[in-house]
Amino acid sequence: MARIVAGVTSSHVPAIGAAIDNHRTGEPYWQRVFEGFERSKEWIAKVKPDVCIVVYNDHASAFSVEMIPTFALGTAAEFPIADEGWGPRPVPAVQGHPELAAHIAQSVILDEFDLTLCNKMEVDHGLTVPLNLMFGTPKQWPCPVIPLAVNVVMYPPPTGHRCFMLGRAIKKAIESYPKDLKVVIFGTGGMSHQISGQRAGLINSKFDHAFLDNLTKNPKKLTRMPHLEYMREAGAEGVEMVMWLIMRGALDDNVDEVYRFYTVPASNTAVGHIILANRTKASKKPASKKAVARKPATKIKRAAAGQKIQRIRS
Ligand code: DHB
Ligand code: FE
Repeated sequence: MARIVAGVTSSHVPAIGAAIDNHRTGEPYWQRVFEGFERSKEWIAKVKPDVCIVVYNDHASAFSVEMIPTFALGTAAEFPIADEGWGPRPVPAVQGHPELAAHIAQSVILDEFDLTLCNKMEVDHGLTVPLNLMFGTPKQWPCPVIPLAVNVVMYPPPTGHRCFMLGRAIKKAIESYPKDLKVVIFGTGGMSHQISGQRAGLINSKFDHAFLDNLTKNPKKLTRMPHLEYMREAGAEGVEMVMWLIMRGALDDNVDEVYRFYTVPASNTAVGHIILANRTKASKKPASKKAVARKPATKIKRAAAGQKIQRIRS
């Protein structure tokens, strides 16, 4: 049986991709951002997922205002890199998993979520930047990726509750796939940011931290948050965070927070990153008081302003 072992969230700021492509990751501004993903890269190299599902939003690259699917699942064998105005990013094309994607499509659509199926689709920074942050810059991405593009660009995006329930349906789909596959699901975009208008540059760290806390411990509370609250508190593009609820819905109710990283700014955006792991059968066993006392949570504070790395569990 296939199973989802963990969920990852990550911002997808295009300037992060440009910093990688132009070899500027060592500059102090960017170093601060990339350092926060070093442990995550080690973590995912150890987990070795067989497939990643990446929930992201297309930024008028594969779709335009002429065609706006709410949920578009990539069922192709390969997804070329989109040209976003200055040529496609020099990253490998994304290999899909048509067999698992078709299984997800069948299960989720028969579960009454009407997905759009994309047998041909280019992918943009919304998908490639999170892959770079987690996998670095390999010659080939280490595993197949199933893209799930969500409309958060043109009103109306799906509600947080709808996203969470879609995550639940994806979980059910994965768990009914007969082959033994280890799946990691990404929720991308966010956190607080607004790119244009009078409030351009808006960041709300208090909102972001509360969102991360609730994502781990009380995601159902987030499913009730209306779009207007995202936009008022986290800026117009902050509404991208509804996509994180698909990731969270696909995990178990109780998860372990493996890692969290938050830094401001990257371009116009607060970078928020969290890794949540489903508990294995062994870790679900109640720990003795002694064992708990021997494993205290550790916090590592970094000197850089606005940057916080919190190692909660390894
Ligand atoms: C920025 C962030 C985004 O999420 C995006 O899609 C485009 C730009 C930014 O911070 O510049
Ligand atoms: Fe975006």
